[in-house]
Amino acid sequence: MNDRDAALKALEWYTDNGITEALESEPQDKTNKLPGSFEDLKGAAPDTTIRNTKTQSEAMPKKQPAKTESALISSKDARAEAENIVKDISTLEDLRQAIADFEGLSVKKTALNMVFCDGNPKARVMVVGEAPGADEDKQGKPFVGASGQLLDKILGSIGLSRDAEAPENALYISNILNWRPPGNRTPTPAEMSIALPFIEKHIALVSPDILVLVGNTPMKSLLNTKQGIVKMRGNWHDYQPVSDIGAKSDKPVFALPTFHPAYLLRNPKQKKTVWADMLMLHKKRIELGIDKA
Ligand code: URA
Repeated sequence: MNDRDAALKALEWYTDNGITEALESEPQDKTNKLPGSFEDLKGAAPDTTIRNTKTQSEAMPKKQPAKTESALISSKDARAEAENIVKDISTLEDLRQAIADFEGLSVKKTALNMVFCDGNPKARVMVVGEAPGADEDKQGKPFVGASGQLLDKILGSIGLSRDAEAPENALYISNILNWRPPGNRTPTPAEMSIALPFIEKHIALVSPDILVLVGNTPMKSLLNTKQGIVKMRGNWHDYQPVSDIGAKSDKPVFALPTFHPAYLLRNPKQKKTVWADMLMLHKKRIELGIDKA
C-alpha cells in the first residue's frame, strides 16, 4: 500500500467512526512526534478488507479513557459543583475566571477558546444564544459568524447594538455554553444542566430588564420548559433562575424567545415572524421607559 492509499484508508476509518470534524483549521504534522517512522503510523490504519467484521475493533488500537477530572465526575456532581462555585461570585471577571477554570464540561477540552460575552454589561437587553460555532470559537466572541451578522441587523433595526455605550441602546450577549461543542452539535441536556448555574449567575450580574432567547436551547434552559420555540415565541415570559446561584434579586426580567438567526438563514420566510418579535421588544422597551416611542 502506498502512502496515499494508507492515508485514504485511515481517513475512511475516521469517517466510518463518526470522526468528521477537524478541531483546528490547519492540519498539524504529528508524525515526527511519534516513536518510529511513518511506516508504523500506516500500520495503525486498518485494512478495510476486514471492515464490518468482528475483528475490526480488535484491529484498531484500544483508546484508553482519559483520566481527567471530568471523566470521573457525574453530571449531577458537576452541576452541584457549578452551583457551589457561582454562589459567592459577585463580579463578571470572577465569573469569567470560574468558567475558565471549571473542569466539569468536556466541551472545554475540544474548544479553541472560551466564549464569555460581547457588548455592554450595562445594557438593559441581554441576548442569550446556544453555544459558540466555529467562527466564535476562533475569535472568542459570541455571534461573530454569519448568524451573528444577521442578529446584529435584526436588533439594529430597532436601534440596539452591541457597540452602543448608552445602556438604553446597548446589547449584552452570551450563550448557554461558553465552549463550542464539537461539530456544532446541539448541547446535550446534561451539558445544559451543568452550565445553567453559570449563565443564570451571568444574567444576575448583568441584571438586564429584558432577555432575548434565541432558539430552542436558551429558551428551554432558561424558561425551564420542554415546549418548542414555535409555541413559546410571540409571548413574554417571566424569567426566574432555577439553579441555586446565591442571592436572587426580586427585579422582574421579561424574556422573549425568538427564532435563532441560523434558522432564519435556512428559512428566510420566517424573517417576518422575527420582525413581529422585534416589534414586541421595541414596545416593551417603551413600556419600561428604556426607549421613547
Ligand atoms: N450561535 C449561537 O447560538 N451562539 C453563537 O455565539 C454563535 C452562533
